[in-house]
Amino acid sequence: MAELVVVADEHAAGALVADAIVSLIRRKPDAVLGLATGSTPLATYRALATRIGDDAIDVRGVRGFALDEYVGLPAGHPESYRAVITREVVEPLGLTPELVRVPNGDPVTVEHAGADYEAAITAAGGVDLQILGIGRTGHIGFNEPGSSLASLTRVKTLTAPTRADNARFFESPEDVPMHCITQGIGTILRARHLVLLAFGEAKAQAIAAAVEGPVTASQPGSAVQLHPHTTVIVDEAAASKLENLAYYRHAWDNKPAWQGI
Ligand code: GLP
Repeated sequence: MAELVVVADEHAAGALVADAIVSLIRRKPDAVLGLATGSTPLATYRALATRIGDDAIDVRGVRGFALDEYVGLPAGHPESYRAVITREVVEPLGLTPELVRVPNGDPVTVEHAGADYEAAITAAGGVDLQILGIGRTGHIGFNEPGSSLASLTRVKTLTAPTRADNARFFESPEDVPMHCITQGIGTILRARHLVLLAFGEAKAQAIAAAVEGPVTASQPGSAVQLHPHTTVIVDEAAASKLENLAYYRHAWDNKPAWQGI
């Protein structure tokens, strides 16, 4: 079972995750972070930036791999995930830009970009802590329903609901790219610790399916049940469709403090 933690809000989640990442970096100054985009992890990145500043944590050796990228956006497009990761993570945290990779969505080279990315993650020794959001459709990264649970980084076609959800970041819905390149579910499962975040009622169904539903490619988030160290952190609204909520609270309330998340 994944550990499920209910927190008051995204700021409380951010404080928990920041703690875990800071202790990881203290143990391993060249830790490898798996970075999600989307609105969900933003409060966590802010909490982490504050902790790094307050505690004067040296993050110059920290490495990072983003989960995904759109295919075909012009270089430097503000909504490319490269730009988002630079703006929301690399700069505020003070990471070394060359140590943070994002899949390459250039159509000219995209055919081998997946294999290149896998090789880079392997060469880095794998991801230590992977931050994940979840889409309404249950997707993690951009692994839409039906994605193989063993999949590796490759090009995918976005679903209509995901393109509609992401249209808010673009001038018009047609501007949302049709394709993306995303770490596969198999790639994500190789990370040593998965931290799945979700806030708000709109995520309640996807969280219930991920945590308590059958493990199925139809609900990519359910793959977290295959991982030996998954922490799911949600607010009350995102937890509202979980059947075993009372037990998750009981387990968390009685967890030895030394275990962290
Ligand atoms: C996006 C990203 C995912 C993200 C999800 C949820 O499309 N590719 O990595 O987890 O959709 O986004 P949000 O956090 O904005 O709800």
